[in-house]
Amino acid sequence: MTTRVLVVYASRYGSTMEVAEAVGDMLGDRGADVEVGVLAAKEATTSGVDIGSYGLVVVGSPVYAGKWLGDAIDFVKKHADALREVPVAIFSVGLTMKEDTPENRATMAEATKGITDIISPVATGMFAGKLDTKVLNLPMRMIIKAMKSPEGDFRNWDAIREWAEGLPLPAA
Ligand SMILES: Cc1cc2nc3c(=O)[nH]c(=O)nc-3n(C[C@H](O)[C@H](O)[C@H](O)COP(=O)(O)O)c2cc1C
Repeated sequence: MTTRVLVVYASRYGSTMEVAEAVGDMLGDRGADVEVGVLAAKEATTSGVDIGSYGLVVVGSPVYAGKWLGDAIDFVKKHADALREVPVAIFSVGLTMKEDTPENRATMAEATKGITDIISPVATGMFAGKLDTKVLNLPMRMIIKAMKSPEGDFRNWDAIREWAEGLPLPAA
């Protein structure tokens, strides 16, 4: 029997999508009988996925101004009842995690407060993200300038791999 895993992500500029794809690949590598689907949150919300058919659901979003993106929040809200019946792991991506400190983890946890009020994740990942100011529109660029955010790709693929490898995969 096959263990089915669904990885759902929101992403504005693609860096969280790439993290979701990597998590999906790593989960798929854990066994020949593990089947992984990676879906954008908007699609997952509207396409009527059968949450109950998955042995694990992973939901990830970048943090913008201290919050998850609306697409990821909408997915969790729409499928709240079904998500309470299966193991769900969540992950957040943000520049706050450039330094992995207890304080920064507490800040990142604030961003998922609304999510953890709805579901109780079996695992919570917090990863550093990527910022390329060239792709930002002017208002966003001004926010980033005011925040004096560091620019660059700070994603730590070893930390992401370690998290994905530790996720509980139910036996099929
Ligand atoms: C306007 C703006 C606001 C942001 N706010 C936060 C924030 O509050 N906390 C954080 O950790 N990262 C913040 N970030 C960084 C993003 O979370 C990071 O760049 C992430 O990798 C973007 O993901 P995406 O490429 O999937 O959209 C912000 C980035 C921008 C451009």
